[in-house]
Amino acid sequence: MLEGKNVNLRIMEKEDLPQFAEWVNKPEVFGEYNPLRVMSKAEAEKMLESPLELKPFMIEKKDGSKIGFITHFYVLHVAGKQLEIGYSLVPSERGKGYCTEATQLMVDYLFLSKETPYIQAVTHLKNVASQRVLEKVGFKKEGIMRKRFYIRGEWTDMVIFSILREEWKEPKILTRKTSESH
Ligand SMILES: CC(C)(COP(=O)(O)OP(=O)(O)OC[C@H]1O[C@@H](n2cnc3c(N)ncnc32)[C@H](O)[C@@H]1OP(=O)(O)O)[C@@H](O)C(=O)NCCC(=O)NCCS
Repeated sequence: MLEGKNVNLRIMEKEDLPQFAEWVNKPEVFGEYNPLRVMSKAEAEKMLESPLELKPFMIEKKDGSKIGFITHFYVLHVAGKQLEIGYSLVPSERGKGYCTEATQLMVDYLFLSKETPYIQAVTHLKNVASQRVLEKVGFKKEGIMRKRFYIRGEWTDMVIFSILREEWKEPKILTRKTSESH
């Protein structure tokens, strides 16, 4: 468990997969700027088993309620160490700073436990909320990736952000003692 002030991140277990798949399948949770996806429970289970696939964490409030997820995965799928993150919150819990805290926890955790030289995130040009989250955690905008993803029937320009290990410097929420490797 990665513990913050208002939210905790908990690695997903098999029993969380129905909730995870439900959120990914729901456009109102996955968001208007992500591709439409359908994910079966079997696909979600396969994902948990593969070292190259998404590693999803549940974002939970301090009372244990589940409000969304944050994932990390390898940018280059063959022998790469570079990591990317992605996240979504249920609509009723947005705008309260939870994703910013979850992202800071994930960045601390990844730099403390993985060898990655940077962490990147890719977001739709119009996804201002996501871009604000990244900026608040210290990510910098690298540029526009033209026609990169097929989203809702069209090839869409995306913005790529990253934070380098040397820009992060030190954990902001976790400490060197509390980070665990998953
Ligand atoms: C992106 C998302 C995860 C952000 O979560 P969140 O918990 O609401 O984020 P926070 O509350 O920590 O911060 C949001 C920031 O964006 C700002 N913001 C939100 N909507 C905005 C808008 N339409 N225009 C400008 N700023 C906006 C907020 O004011 C806040 O910034 P501030 O603290 O400087 O005021 C959430 O909107 C979501 O789940 N969206 C759908 C899924 C998605 O798009 N995921 C990202 C894919 S890359």
